[in-house]
Amino acid sequence: VFRPKSADHLALSELGRRIEAPPISWLMSTALAHPHLISLAAGFTDNPSLPVAEARALFEELLGSSADGQAALQYGTTSGDPQLRELTSRRLGELDESADSGLYDPDRMLLTNGSQQLLYMVTEALCDPGDIVLVEDPTYFVYLGILQSFGVRARGVRMEKEGLDTGQLERVLEEMCRSGQIKRLKFLYLVSYHQNPTGATTSLERKAAALEILGRYEKAAGHRIYLLEDAAYRELRFQGSPIRSALALKHGNSRVIYAGTYSKPFATGTRVGFGLLPEPVFTAVWRIKGNHDFGSSHLLQKLLARALSSGVYEEHLAALRARYQAKARVMLEALEEHFPPGADWWTPQGGLYYWARLPGKRAAGPRSAFFKRALAKDVLYVPGELCYADDPARKKPAHEMRLSFGAASEANIREGIRRLGEAMKV
Ligand SMILES: Cc1ncc(COP(=O)(O)O)c(C=O)c1O
Repeated sequence: VFRPKSADHLALSELGRRIEAPPISWLMSTALAHPHLISLAAGFTDNPSLPVAEARALFEELLGSSADGQAALQYGTTSGDPQLRELTSRRLGELDESADSGLYDPDRMLLTNGSQQLLYMVTEALCDPGDIVLVEDPTYFVYLGILQSFGVRARGVRMEKEGLDTGQLERVLEEMCRSGQIKRLKFLYLVSYHQNPTGATTSLERKAAALEILGRYEKAAGHRIYLLEDAAYRELRFQGSPIRSALALKHGNSRVIYAGTYSKPFATGTRVGFGLLPEPVFTAVWRIKGNHDFGSSHLLQKLLARALSSGVYEEHLAALRARYQAKARVMLEALEEHFPPGADWWTPQGGLYYWARLPGKRAAGPRSAFFKRALAKDVLYVPGELCYADDPARKKPAHEMRLSFGAASEANIREGIRRLGEAMKV
């Protein structure tokens, strides 16, 4: 039992006392307590499509000669394997269809333990307690936990089907100017592709508008206001046209911090993430990483480098996209068949999530009758409420849910949605 006010806890730092239990631990313990549960909550990727045979062959090659094996099994550097940084830089240039390789300079790149570590370190490098970060309303709930632990206040900017509402971004900034809070604002955190939790993608036009708007308020803030673009689901697009990153926009190389990952498109268990950072953020984060771990797993970075350079990565990704496209279609058909009139949802063009609403704005939160009914039917989803920042400027919507087609089998997706539909009809 965690009792922050008891004498035992006086030894803890302010952060140690302040930090709250992440909602993910509550979801996981709920799942464990229901062994027959169909979980549409997990953000895990599709188990059967993890590249086991490919990874086995790559490891075989990697450890095939003593010299290569020894290099891979030795410590690497704080920034990460130069070959993987070079390959990642080239890949970003290709994804952005950009000939300007300077934008993706491997010397500004850090390889991290998942992009999660990068998000943590960037926040640590830029924020003090009492500072403010703008987030999408709703946003990736694990990131809200990072902000909470640092004592950083989050303010929400509405998400629409087309992505971030830049009109509201401007209004929030204007109001922060009037109240003097703008001086505490450090950056906008944007999950720009197939967002967790809504599945929505912010268009390039909206990203450009957001960057331009943030730039206009820097004078009032007295410092740079960065755009932290989290592109975790970028490569999981299975429909529609690719969208360039904010790095490729005007001033992108000085104002955008880019977080990417090989977890989702290759293997979640490798947790190889990366960041591209402008100075002085790069140096601050590089030094923090030196203290954290002076480099992520060298072996796994070498594995990813081989996967990319051999073409295995690209081949796997194509199969993965087709797989998620099929699973997304299964979920859509089930939603159309089983959800009652009045329920609605956003259909994603990639990623792992649908965002759905109960009819009549009925509550779907963790303590709602609907959540309990769903659990009694052995189905779990992420209550949308958990994905909203504690922003006093608005009441948290409570009638939404995140439904993942990542981990569940097609049969379980169908059955899980059928049971949720039934729970709605009571
Ligand atoms: C939006 C978003 N960003 C970052 C991450 C972190 O992923 P990883 O640390 O595996 O790169 C996740 C994981 O679910 C995510 O959903």
